[in-house]
Amino acid sequence: MTEDLQITSITKEEKYKEIIPQIKALVEGELDLIANLANVTAALKQTFDFFWVGFYMVKNDELVLGPFQGPIACTRIKKGKGVCGHVFETKKTALVPDVDAFPGHIACSSLSKSEIVVPLLRNNEVLAVLDVDSDLLNDFDEIDELNLTALCAWLSDRF
Ligand code: SME
Repeated sequence: MTEDLQITSITKEEKYKEIIPQIKALVEGELDLIANLANVTAALKQTFDFFWVGFYMVKNDELVLGPFQGPIACTRIKKGKGVCGHVFETKKTALVPDVDAFPGHIACSSLSKSEIVVPLLRNNEVLAVLDVDSDLLNDFDEIDELNLTALCAWLSDRF
């Protein structure tokens, strides 16, 4: 296993290109899901310095907080509630440039300003969602969407 992440790029797009193969290498040798998801959140936090990055896991038809990096967060989110619950319900990625403009957004931290939530799917069922929050408005775009969606699709096969 690589002991340290190697990130030399400046742009977000290049950082994703560098980090995703390293994340895959890190996860491929380990079967424990929680260990793997914990390392994925740490790698993303270390690379992009996201304000908050973590997984919510589907348990008994609601979302339960899983491995994350950042300030403490809401433990449970019901289907349809907030951005995460919306993604759980719709099974589609949500890119939210201004969380205050999203009806029903759940403010785990008042510092969070924009957010992207990506579902992890298998057989069209949501297994978990990846939630990434920024303390800046409009901080996520199609580069994040493309790369995080590809990463989550790959991770779904490891559940
Ligand atoms: N803002 C999310 C809740 C999770 S926290 O941001 C970590 C939502 O509206 O679903």
